[in-house]
Amino acid sequence: MRRGTKAGAGPRAKLHPRSERREPTRREPREPPRPVTLAIDVGGTGIKALLLDPHGEPLTERVRVSTPRPATPARVLEAILELVHLLGDFDRVSVGFPGVVVGDTIRTAPNLDGHWKGFPIARVLSLKLGRPVRALNDAGVQGYGVIEGKGTEMVLTLGTGMGTALYADGHYVPNLELAHHPFRGKKTYEDYVGGRALAKIGKAKWNRRVRKVIAQIDPVWNPRRIYLGGGNARHLRLALPRHVSVTENVAGLLGGIALWRD
Ligand code: BGC
Repeated sequence: MRRGTKAGAGPRAKLHPRSERREPTRREPREPPRPVTLAIDVGGTGIKALLLDPHGEPLTERVRVSTPRPATPARVLEAILELVHLLGDFDRVSVGFPGVVVGDTIRTAPNLDGHWKGFPIARVLSLKLGRPVRALNDAGVQGYGVIEGKGTEMVLTLGTGMGTALYADGHYVPNLELAHHPFRGKKTYEDYVGGRALAKIGKAKWNRRVRKVIAQIDPVWNPRRIYLGGGNARHLRLALPRHVSVTENVAGLLGGIALWRD
């Protein structure tokens, strides 16, 4: 029933004695539909978070803190708790992590601290937050926020590190790590186009390098679509092939809903 059509609603309701007043029909603030997912994107430079509704639509603005240095598990978890206090209530948590993640455990964290190796991030965070937690490689999460779910699709994230993720008909192939594969001489892909390279060589040269990286990866993996993301994708000034597109970095959070699909 539309508001205001009930008998007694409208100006006449004012005449009712206080004891007969009906419960207000509008609750402030409105309760979001459940379950609410807290999506967290741990990056080498910043840690970002927002809340998602059951369909993966954002319920809040994105909040961010700088990644602490050294980025030990204890300090990163502390920073995550700081973000959590800025957001409302949630039922479950998705974490995109910048390294190899197997089950609930971190295997590598090249741009964070050495103590992450073997750290059971999902278990520890779940104990701290009192909610179930699922974690996945950050590029893997990013892709879930942008792919079409058809054929082979690939994500390359350009940030502090270089993330890569591969999907076959929407199914994620976990932990493809092209970042650390040799590319030019002794330089890996990440040495070549990662955040440190960009800071050192400047945007123009970095753009040319990204073009070379795409030209190398494309005919080897033959993806139907390539999505470029990550914080430094905003510096791209390239004429891209038709099947390559630049996506918004917020996908690294929006993709968090996919971790709860089963
Ligand atoms: C890591 C990847 C990660 C990427 C972007 C690389 O150094 O090895 O796992 O996806 O950085 O954060």
